[in-house]
Amino acid sequence: MAPPGNDKNQLFLGLFIHSVKLGELQYLHDTAVCVDKSGKIIAVEKQCDQKKAEVTLYPKLGWKVDDVTVTIAKDGQFFFPGFIDTHIHAPQYPNVGIFGKSTLLDWLNTYTFPMEASLSSLPKARRVYTRCIQRTIAHGTTTAAYYATIHVPSTNLLADLCLSLGQRAFVGRVCMDNLGPKYYLDESPSKSLAATRATIDHIRSIDADFDLISPILTPRFAPSCSVDAMTQLGALHQETGLPIQTHIAENVDELKLVRDMFPDSKNYADVYDRFGLLGKRTILAHAIYLSEEEADLVAHRGSKVSHCPCSNSALTSGVAPVRWLLDKGIGVGLGTDVSGGYSPSVLDAARQAALVSNHLAMPPRTGKKQIDSSADTEANTSFKDDRELVRLSVEEALHLATRGGAEVVGLGEKIGGFEVGKEWDAQLIGLGLVPEEDDSTELKQDDQDQDQDTGNVDIFGWERWEDRVAKWVFNGDDRNVKKVWVRGRLVHERR
Ligand code: GUN
Ligand code: FE
Repeated sequence: MAPPGNDKNQLFLGLFIHSVKLGELQYLHDTAVCVDKSGKIIAVEKQCDQKKAEVTLYPKLGWKVDDVTVTIAKDGQFFFPGFIDTHIHAPQYPNVGIFGKSTLLDWLNTYTFPMEASLSSLPKARRVYTRCIQRTIAHGTTTAAYYATIHVPSTNLLADLCLSLGQRAFVGRVCMDNLGPKYYLDESPSKSLAATRATIDHIRSIDADFDLISPILTPRFAPSCSVDAMTQLGALHQETGLPIQTHIAENVDELKLVRDMFPDSKNYADVYDRFGLLGKRTILAHAIYLSEEEADLVAHRGSKVSHCPCSNSALTSGVAPVRWLLDKGIGVGLGTDVSGGYSPSVLDAARQAALVSNHLAMPPRTGKKQIDSSADTEANTSFKDDRELVRLSVEEALHLATRGGAEVVGLGEKIGGFEVGKEWDAQLIGLGLVPEEDDSTELKQDDQDQDQDTGNVDIFGWERWEDRVAKWVFNGDDRNVKKVWVRGRLVHERR
């Protein structure tokens, strides 16, 4: 079986905004993007309207007018690449917002393991997974790297639901055979591996070439996996080339646990490296407390980092040094880390990535590193320079949310931008246009409908497009996501 194609070619017209490199958004006004029935972008034409497309583009592409669906970004709207959530736990979705004052290890035991264990029930898993996928799609997530649970049937169900609801996904059965509650643990390393193979086989049976849904090897994190299981997972990666996802250096108590459990390893990254689990297709969530040596190793191996700012703040884990990781040459994307993170929105993750990066730039309130900002010392000047450097701009955060994330999940050639040859994974964003006349009683019915549904982003018309995008990043939500496509298929429409 292969994911369904589209029965028509598609023409998209209007403004397209995408990140072309870290920190640089490109604004393609009055542009036409042509997408064939397989969902691939086959032409991008600037200065083009519908008439011109019909006369000049269609003949070149062998298209007939009645074989094409046309979608136009109206005034105040633009097409943007679909968001890529590089780290999300689907079974934790019912727990979003529920974390109290817990930190990682007690959060896992109090909230997370009981919820995950309960998803052995297929009806419950169907309910939770369906809503999680629908909700993330509604927020513009076209690709998600999911952790499921240890259960094979419900992990397979998550893959089935992603395929039928049309979200591109990596689906990982969680491997944990070592540390964890008795009621929620793989019985042995060999059973853990057999169960993982069963989900890989299932995904191959529903999407033979992993066009839309791919398995991903998922050792939960080093403390939860035995040496035997990690050795076998490393071998399975060698055998299949499948991607890997896990957590690293998220919390200081976790670091100590890893040091105590793996005394022979030099550091946390070395634990994974010894088992062949650090490769180009490895996604490491968090990476807040990597040492210089570990970051150099991660960079050398070509492994990637999923930055999860919402989770890192909610669980009081720390602030990841994103600029430092990027400067090391490590690919970074954004993760919601539901439900360590309370928000299923990657736009929210982008917003928070920008905000927490500012925290790294704030002078400490006390202690010897405190800076007297009026002093003109060398140390002060260099601190102020560093301060500017660590901050992430809106453009940079949006890069991590799209093209950066595509690299992290190994799909840099396929998604993340609007070039010919890429697949049409996109969202139509609509911002609220404040009417010219400040007399809402005279609004037409049409405008009223639009008004009610445009959320918090008010555009007055004088803003530059750069400023409109910033307003969207800081005040936008799912109300601004009007339509979502994956591989050319319309998977969400807001009415
Ligand atoms: N470390 C091990 N498991 C988890 C998890 O489910 N969420 C987060 N944030 N960290 C983890
Ligand atoms: Fe996580």
